[in-house]
Amino acid sequence: MKFLKELKRSHLCGDLRSGQVGQSVVLMGWVDTRRDHGGLVFVDLRDRAGVVQVVLNPAEAATQAAKNFRGEYVVAIRGLVQRRPEGMINSKIPTGEVEVQATECEILSEAQTPPFQIDDSKVSESLRLKYRYLDLRSPILQKNLITRHHVAQLVRNYLSDQGFIEVETPILYKSTPEGARDYLVPSRVTQGSFYALPQSPQTLKQLLMIGGMDRYFQLARCFRDEDLRADRQPEFSQIDMEMSFVDTEDILKLNEDLLRHLWRQMRGVELPEVPRMSYREAMQRYGSDKPDLRNPLQLQDLRSVVENSEFKVFADVLARGGEIRGFSVPGAGEISRGQLDKLTQTAKQYGAKGLVWIKSDVQGQLSSVASKFFSPDKLAEIFKTCGGQPGHGAFIVADDFDVACTSLGALRNILAREYGLVDESQDRFVWVVDFPLMEFDAEAQRWVARHHPFTAPQDEQLDILMEGREKQYPELLAKAYDLVCNGYELAGGSVRIYRQVLQQAMFKALGLTEEEVKHKFGFFIEALSYGTPPHAGIAWGMDRLVMILCGTEAIRDVIAFPKTAKASDLMAEAPSTVSREQLIELGLRLTGTTEPKNRP
Ligand code: AMO
Repeated sequence: MKFLKELKRSHLCGDLRSGQVGQSVVLMGWVDTRRDHGGLVFVDLRDRAGVVQVVLNPAEAATQAAKNFRGEYVVAIRGLVQRRPEGMINSKIPTGEVEVQATECEILSEAQTPPFQIDDSKVSESLRLKYRYLDLRSPILQKNLITRHHVAQLVRNYLSDQGFIEVETPILYKSTPEGARDYLVPSRVTQGSFYALPQSPQTLKQLLMIGGMDRYFQLARCFRDEDLRADRQPEFSQIDMEMSFVDTEDILKLNEDLLRHLWRQMRGVELPEVPRMSYREAMQRYGSDKPDLRNPLQLQDLRSVVENSEFKVFADVLARGGEIRGFSVPGAGEISRGQLDKLTQTAKQYGAKGLVWIKSDVQGQLSSVASKFFSPDKLAEIFKTCGGQPGHGAFIVADDFDVACTSLGALRNILAREYGLVDESQDRFVWVVDFPLMEFDAEAQRWVARHHPFTAPQDEQLDILMEGREKQYPELLAKAYDLVCNGYELAGGSVRIYRQVLQQAMFKALGLTEEEVKHKFGFFIEALSYGTPPHAGIAWGMDRLVMILCGTEAIRDVIAFPKTAKASDLMAEAPSTVSREQLIELGLRLTGTTEPKNRP
């Protein structure tokens, strides 16, 4: 390979500055653009660090290869860094003051015409995913992955300095309950048995505490077969940690310090103390357990204003102890009928039976879908309690707690965006605490853990669980905490149950039979009996963290090889069928019409 002997890369393209003027450099990279001009060839040469302009004269023997340069060719250039002529300086790029006058060049690798121009934002997502390695050449994705690397380094160093040790836990494992479906891997050696890919290293990190590791962390890959959204991937990474001999306060403090460290290093921002809010307050005021505090709209309690109302919808909800809440939106006084219909539809998707709206023109004249049910004074009072002023629109839902809060929470997000009310100039954080320990799953007709079944109830409530007082389960609060940033759940964790009897009581409350407990968690329950330190932990969504730090709204922008909404990899075409032999080896037979063709 001639280039390795004679041309050794001396600089990265994007690193050249006026300080290198006069130096001879060797660059290697991709031809980003190429322009012919008065017998000279101008090439923007690109590598991970950026682009720099190279000027080549193909009439000279040493640079005649430039004649054949095409987009995405990989080339090597030897040349002299020189200041660009006055008037030719490009202030839009960091290398814009200089250019490289090539004295020698070589094509290292030719390229077919790519299916799309690198960094063309109009190209369809699916084409870019199919050719992800080409998309990865775009400066944005390169910057995102570099940011990800820096975040990982900062986290590793920070936690290591705090006495944490990084431990790898298995990927081929057993079901770990985090509420999603498992990805299963069939065993060849023990046919009919399956590994489950971990939804998180939850039980493993608790076992590490029992194993005396004291402080553990891992940048852990997790697998969850669940419906995908912009902030969810079937495999994703957690900054996972667990600590022994600690309680809630220790975890919150350490993680808040880590958060502050990250924002200081990555953003140059000194974050204020992170406020705390109970789950109930978050739901009542913001209609969400992950409230976006950059959005100033807040839900108001209307129960006392609409007491004795003859409006049947409100009266019924009041009678059964439900919630009547509403909020007002500056600027929405002029909202159209069509928009109101859409908002009503959205509220219905969250289970609300309808949406009551009141709007005010700039003179303060009110109109409402429910005007015939209220006197003008009452309507004005309701509007005012929502926070309404001339030019505002107010939106009200009466229903059971969850439905009323979550449907209004969804509208709060939509309307704040629509009317430009979200202050995007800063990131806003909040710790949400005091979550319910369990929820009743009406479909399955049983209680399910809201976080996961290893989360401890609050100290004064242990008896309710130990004695299995089911009527009081709705009162049970968890020692759980979520770190929320700009409306995203950035991290979540809890103080764990560390007494075997309590863990057994928890599984019982969740409707697991002794057999099921033994089959799924026998090893874990047994481990709890051999001296378990009190412990607690948390896991951050690493992809979400990097997404926020990169200012994007989809975690696939910060994952090198992400999957589509249908959980497939368009580039490698995974998942894919396997050969009949492989199935036979695993003792598997497919049912239905999906029998694979017999191919290698
Ligand atoms: P939890 O299920 O809350 O807790 O997950 C922790 C954090 O992981 C991120 N996250 C995801 N990110 C991308 N795609 C997904 N599909 C996805 N699912 C979750 C979120 C979330 O806050 N074992 C517990 C933690 C503990 O108790 O210590 C757990 O996994 O940012």
